[in-house]
Amino acid sequence: MLNCFAAEKSSDAVSIIFITESDFNSWKSKQSSLTQNWLSAQNFLGKTDSHCLIPDKNGKIDFALAIHADKNNFTYMGSLANSLPEGIYCLEKLNHQAVLFWGMGAYQFTKYKKPKRNPAKLILPKGFENTVAQLHAIYTVRNLINTPTENMSPADLSAAAKKLASDFKADFSEIIGDNLLKENYPAIHAVGRASTTPPRLIELNWGNKKHPKITLVGKGVCFDTGGLDIKPAAGMLGMKKDMGGAAHALGLASLIMQAKLPVKLRVLIPAVENVISGNAYKPGDVISTRKGLTVEIGNTDAEGRVILSDALTEASSENPDLLLDFATLTGAARIAVGTDISALFTDDNKLAEEILYYGEKAQDPIWRMPIYKPYRKLIDSTIADVNNASSSGYGGAITAALFLKEFVSDGISWAHFDIMAWNASTSAGHPEGAEAMAIRAVFEYIYNRYK
Ligand code: BES
Ligand code: ZN
Ligand code: ZN
Repeated sequence: MLNCFAAEKSSDAVSIIFITESDFNSWKSKQSSLTQNWLSAQNFLGKTDSHCLIPDKNGKIDFALAIHADKNNFTYMGSLANSLPEGIYCLEKLNHQAVLFWGMGAYQFTKYKKPKRNPAKLILPKGFENTVAQLHAIYTVRNLINTPTENMSPADLSAAAKKLASDFKADFSEIIGDNLLKENYPAIHAVGRASTTPPRLIELNWGNKKHPKITLVGKGVCFDTGGLDIKPAAGMLGMKKDMGGAAHALGLASLIMQAKLPVKLRVLIPAVENVISGNAYKPGDVISTRKGLTVEIGNTDAEGRVILSDALTEASSENPDLLLDFATLTGAARIAVGTDISALFTDDNKLAEEILYYGEKAQDPIWRMPIYKPYRKLIDSTIADVNNASSSGYGGAITAALFLKEFVSDGISWAHFDIMAWNASTSAGHPEGAEAMAIRAVFEYIYNRYK
């Protein structure tokens, strides 16, 4: 049980009462004079996304009043677990969204620091197992991303994947260090070879071979210094999160396995540190790839697409029914859609439409961006098949997607998510720090398609 929930039938729980802003005045006029006076004395105006504790005549908490925009929107639950006093609360007519946002907002990263307080606990009756499974996946993703590189090296990421595999009786394997060269993963090796923690390709397989094949790929750059094209301090500071795509692939995998969906699941995670040493790959290098295409390194900081190229080639070789990749790939995607929205790239219109539909439904915001073919010329190279960096300062998320597309076989239904994996500041259900983005939407899509 997550520490923000209590088992059913805990005694004297405080009720949370939701009303809408437009109903507030008439609701207030029907309350006891004590309650009315209290609300007035607090200057509580019943604005959307605010709350007030209401005392009884003994000065104990009678109930918690919360205001939402409309009667079907319980996202404000995501602000309550760490703002209501510690204690046990209940909400009549609980629903998935209310429980989900409560749990998402209750999250704290406590690996290195005792929390200042415990979250308030919500009484959780039976029937919310799927919601709780989603919360576990979200917490796992956030914990992986929040953990700094010191404790989240490629080896640590691999250990986390191995643990997940054993939890769900999935097969785990990995190719480490110079074995990447033997097994023909030269691009992953080139990016990761400068680190004292060797690069690797992590693989997880689960499910019946006869079922439709879903392959998830995640960018696992455990730290991105930029390499020899080194990032300035401010840009490097947050780069422990550059394995966010890998964390997302693992989180989504756990949801699929938890739901026991009739699919054959494969997860591929190229895991590296993009760091500097004498043998670091260099600007101007031409490296080979699993596919055989040569890549000119226009910028060592565009490392994510380089390691993903080998993983996408391998993923394509099995011709999966659905191929999805998650990556904190470009700053340009953040300029385009900001920090909260996941940028979706796919040539499969039906897939895009459905993922967007589930994104809206799950309040997991996703916007589609184009894989605009005329921009392919921006990643032409005079001496290699393709350049990993664009010759233009514009459309950087699109040229990154075009680069990835070079390594995905034609005819495969493929979607690429360029994600932030991080909340710049706290909002309801989204505490500042690591975040799982797009995986609730994608899970709903996969669930409804394959169940
Ligand atoms: N990991 C970064 C992208 C990133 C930066 C994601 C900040 C989220 C927040 C990636 O490896 C990178 O550095 N990309 C460069 C590519 C450029 C050198 C072509 C970028 O986006 O600036
Ligand atoms: Zn980079
Ligand atoms: Zn990166």
